[in-house]
Amino acid sequence: MQFKYHSPQNEKEISFINISELQKASGRIIPRDSFDYIRSGAGDEITMQRNTTSFNTKEIYPRTFAGIKTPDLHTSVLGIPISLPIITAPMAAHGLAHISAESGTAKGTAAAGSIMSISTYSNQTLEKIAAAGNGAPQWFQLYLSKDDGFNRHLLEEAVKNNIKAIILTVDATINGNREADMRNRFTMPLPLANLKKTGQNKALSLEQIFDNFLPNITLKDLSKIISFSKLPLIVKGIQNPQDALQAVSAGASAIWVSNHGGRQLDGGPASFEVLEEIAATVNHRVPIIFDSGIRRGQHIFKALASGADITAIGRPLLYGLAQGGWRGVKDVYDFFARELSMVMQLAGTPDIEAVKKAPLFTAH
Ligand code: FNR
Ligand code: LAC
Repeated sequence: MQFKYHSPQNEKEISFINISELQKASGRIIPRDSFDYIRSGAGDEITMQRNTTSFNTKEIYPRTFAGIKTPDLHTSVLGIPISLPIITAPMAAHGLAHISAESGTAKGTAAAGSIMSISTYSNQTLEKIAAAGNGAPQWFQLYLSKDDGFNRHLLEEAVKNNIKAIILTVDATINGNREADMRNRFTMPLPLANLKKTGQNKALSLEQIFDNFLPNITLKDLSKIISFSKLPLIVKGIQNPQDALQAVSAGASAIWVSNHGGRQLDGGPASFEVLEEIAATVNHRVPIIFDSGIRRGQHIFKALASGADITAIGRPLLYGLAQGGWRGVKDVYDFFARELSMVMQLAGTPDIEAVKKAPLFTAH
């Protein structure tokens, strides 16, 4: 299967009131099996839905006398200054959403002043995506392979292309129970540029890719990756305080609290529900990145107030890309920035440090 582009190379501003509308509109233009792959979660999608609804278990206290007109959204992570506490999560095969693929997402993310994460399963090469980012910070997400030579090759490519950190994803050593993909007999679109060297040129399902390439991950792998690349290592897919502690002890420079957008273990908690406990356990030893289920500015506020240092967005950015190329990605960033800014103003929090200290209200 090649990319199934839905439309010509449109790079335009897009108009939407909220992410739910944007998702619906994208479902009308992205080919059905690609849209299903992007949108869906594992099993009955209970964990995926809960990722978003669980933000409603906590409330934000309004504060009126703080005298802030325009809150400051700037912050930084691992020494990288960013314009807002939101980055692009690593996602496979952006070519499913738009012909510009990862280059479009990289350009839109750079225009928003933030960090692009590049998946091992990107459709384009790191070189091409780096060029589109034009010097903006980028991270590389590694799916560890059974073949250590190949791991080393990928890490060398990352260093060569000025990648600032490696994200090791640890919650996907087998494929989740993706029923929509089974129904559609979905195969990953080619090329998966980074897999070229493995001789991989057949269209495979994600399950086949995971089964063929991915080993179990042990703590020893963390130190191996650090010594290969000498870059900061971020461990993504942590949902448990013990795992967070083990990763930090093994040398992780940051913990990425995520349940893969509910695409892996259905029946697990919402990512937001485990955030506070993990943050308390990590206790500021390393920064915490949070994702899964964010669809509103208030969700970002609540994540930061519950221990996240920054947040990451997945699916909504691919919907933006589908609608308008890089400009659509930038528009999704602008949507979250505008909503977060409104929430910060109404909560009397002038900047991101104040948000992180804000108490949340729990009715029950
Ligand atoms: C992902 N995600 C993901 N994560 C990862 O580490 N490597 C990858 O290649 C992918 N691929 C991928 C593809 C698609 C289509 C989606 C939607 C997601 C997970 C991603 O990084 C992130 O954790 C979730 O998308 C966050 O949840 P939301 O924001 O989509 O709800
Ligand atoms: C996914 C894989 C590629 O979630 O991480 O589809």
